[in-house]
Amino acid sequence: MPSYVLCLLAFFVGAIPFGLLIGKLKGIDLREKGSGNIGASNAMRQLGKPLGILVFVLDTLKGLLPTLLAHQQALSPEWVVGVGLAAVFGHIYSPFVRFKGGKGVATTLGVLLGLDWRVGLLGFGVFLVVTAVTDYISVGSITAAVAQAALFWVFGDPLPMKLFGAVVGVFVILRHRSNIQRLLKGEENHYRKKTPAP
Ligand code: G3P
Repeated sequence: MPSYVLCLLAFFVGAIPFGLLIGKLKGIDLREKGSGNIGASNAMRQLGKPLGILVFVLDTLKGLLPTLLAHQQALSPEWVVGVGLAAVFGHIYSPFVRFKGGKGVATTLGVLLGLDWRVGLLGFGVFLVVTAVTDYISVGSITAAVAQAALFWVFGDPLPMKLFGAVVGVFVILRHRSNIQRLLKGEENHYRKKTPAP
């Protein structure tokens, strides 16, 4: 399969808004509830833990499967990274939801696992620990976005992967602008503790 076709495929796989679709099955539009995000965190808050985890797994697979397929097709490292990036951008700028997709965290995790599983696992570990300690999923996500970029350098991965880490790190953090504003105002949604209504 030509590399650019795989990139296009990855983009449209990444663009599938699983959170929105699963929410709609329950009669809930995630864009109108909670943080308004269609990702796993808001799904967990609005649809409950099991469905939130399902959204997380599906969003992760959207990044992992295209990246593994790119490896299987023996694409060059640049194109493998391009396929992973396409999946993440598909999720963030999904044409199926008028280019207002999610924040890219779970899909990035899937790509990381496909590029270098050590970076993926450690990045996920950072996310879990920071989320548990701070009780904010967004803080876990932002910290993991920084950590994964650094981990590619720690493990001496090829330059395209280091660039991937830097680019998705910046995009994931930019997608958390509203979270950062809420954190600064003390209004961010907690993971466990109920946030008082503003
Ligand atoms: O993965 C997204 C998470 O970091 C924040 O989601 O819904 O709290 O804005 P949310």
